[in-house]
Amino acid sequence: MKVFIDSGDIAEIREAQSMGVIDGVTTNPSLLAKAGKPTKRAIAEICEVVDGPISAEVVAVEKDAILREGRELAKIHRNVVVKVPLIDEGLKAVRIFASEGIKTNVTLCFSAAQALLAAKAGATFVSPFVGRVDDAAGDGMDLVLQVVTIFRNYGLSTQVLTASVRHPVHFVQAAMIGSHAATMPLKVIKQLIKHPLTDVGLAQFLADAKKIPELV
Ligand code: E4P
Repeated sequence: MKVFIDSGDIAEIREAQSMGVIDGVTTNPSLLAKAGKPTKRAIAEICEVVDGPISAEVVAVEKDAILREGRELAKIHRNVVVKVPLIDEGLKAVRIFASEGIKTNVTLCFSAAQALLAAKAGATFVSPFVGRVDDAAGDGMDLVLQVVTIFRNYGLSTQVLTASVRHPVHFVQAAMIGSHAATMPLKVIKQLIKHPLTDVGLAQFLADAKKIPELV
């Protein structure tokens, strides 16, 4: 499963990149607002740090405006994936982006039906938002299972990008189900690395290492 960091913060992205565990980056307008830089500059900086798919979201909601904005974003770097909301105007734009060879990540997906239609429109990635489904008393991972199963049933090439990952269990379940990718904040990536038994074991090994006689 590909691991993406969900962040607009260049320091966080550099840190994740230095750990050698990330394959790409997803951003959204809320994350870029926190970063406090113009979108194009922020995306260009991210593309310098990570060599993989970098999702940059349009803020337009009408087909022609989405196309204009998306084409501008795609010009920033060959790795840019244009993130498009899962609305009818968005799908119209996705179809045209696909014909132009522009990669897309169809975002704000909350049902398997939406995901199937995004795939039919030619999306490169579709992003089911597991954490937000859970927040609304649904089962986010069941949504991922439905989408992965449907895509497999019909041999669809669109990749499932499990998004809104909030904790390590989401990550492991997404991998068990066969999601192609998952995106998560740096905090979750760090939680995935950490295990209390690793810390206890390391402390013991370091203490015992001090008892080893020096070589003479
Ligand atoms: C995905 O592309 C989104 O940016 C993100 O995963 C949303 O996560 P949130 O629900 O934690 O804001």
